[in-house]
Amino acid sequence: MSETSFTPRVFSGIQPSGNLHLGNYLGALKRFVDWQAKDMETIYCMVDLHAITVWQDPADLKKSTRELCAGFIAAGIDPEKSILINQSQVPEHAQLAWIFNCVARMGWMQRMTQWKDKAGKNAQNASLGLFAYPALMAADILVYHATHVPVGEDQKQHLELTRDIAIKFNHDYGVNFFPETEPVIEGAATRVMSLRDGTKKMSKSDPSDASRINLIDDADTIAKKIRKAKTDPEALPSEVEGLEARPEARNLVNIYAALADMTVEQVLAEAGGRQFSEFKPMLADLAVAKMSPITTEMARLMENQDEIDKILARGALRAREITAPILRKAYDIVGMVAPVEI
Ligand code: AMP
Ligand code: TRP
Repeated sequence: MSETSFTPRVFSGIQPSGNLHLGNYLGALKRFVDWQAKDMETIYCMVDLHAITVWQDPADLKKSTRELCAGFIAAGIDPEKSILINQSQVPEHAQLAWIFNCVARMGWMQRMTQWKDKAGKNAQNASLGLFAYPALMAADILVYHATHVPVGEDQKQHLELTRDIAIKFNHDYGVNFFPETEPVIEGAATRVMSLRDGTKKMSKSDPSDASRINLIDDADTIAKKIRKAKTDPEALPSEVEGLEARPEARNLVNIYAALADMTVEQVLAEAGGRQFSEFKPMLADLAVAKMSPITTEMARLMENQDEIDKILARGALRAREITAPILRKAYDIVGMVAPVEI
């Protein structure tokens, strides 16, 4: 049996590996909230199985997972509207991932830039899980037949691979079972850069804490990091072209635009001609105004760990209503004998 049309459904995930930052917020969380407001089913996931592809201290992983859940809710995800889950509580993700390990080719995985970056020169010593990471990601998405996946720019290649896996599965088994997912990479901040180096992505793993604004930073810390952000000595241009060879200036303008829900053109129409000594305090005020309520709410939610754990448990129950039948069907297509009632 094959399916020909797929109900629109949104899925995305974030790794609970600590240091949730402004890039995660603007490139992902804030966008997830926008999708929740549309008339579509939305599923958001803490991908703890992905996190352990590199070493995680077990106690820290639990804390980061709950903190991420608090971050989702504080940023505006409503666990009644969206399905909020922890990946390991919905076993169908890992089960479908195994099938995809057998569909995906070694060569496809070897081409992934995230694999090359993370494994570095010491690939022989990287975990097998790190290599197979994109097959699990494809399973996260396709076990819901999700059609739309909002992510930051850095995940584009993984989403193309997800599509390749869906196409190869459908082709090999002669079905139209998995949808060809749309990556949704939109907005002014799909790639927020480091505050210390405008050519490097803002990242959880950057050893310099000054390179990123963490979601748990207080107002003073946010303002201080923006004041100290690397810039150049020129004033802001009034046209977008004037930002081309100025990565740090472009980054700060992009951040401003994304936080204020403005276009880069609108920001430059207002701030063009100003020096950074003037623009940075504007940006710091805006960042504090937008981020502080989230930080405060996250801290409040973290005090009630039981409630977070219940939200995740309820999310998993709702999620499995979708994933269990899809996995069962995938097993059947592949030729697994299903257990009968005894
Ligand atoms: P990760 O922290 O790697 O699990 O990423 C979670 C989400 O945040 C993904 O959608 C990423 O694309 C997005 N993201 C991570 N870093 C950045 C960044 N510097 N700028 C924009 N989006 C980002
Ligand atoms: N790989 C993503 C990241 O590091 C996280 C992720 C895992 C994800 N599974 C996903 C994102 C499914 C979107 C959809 O950012």
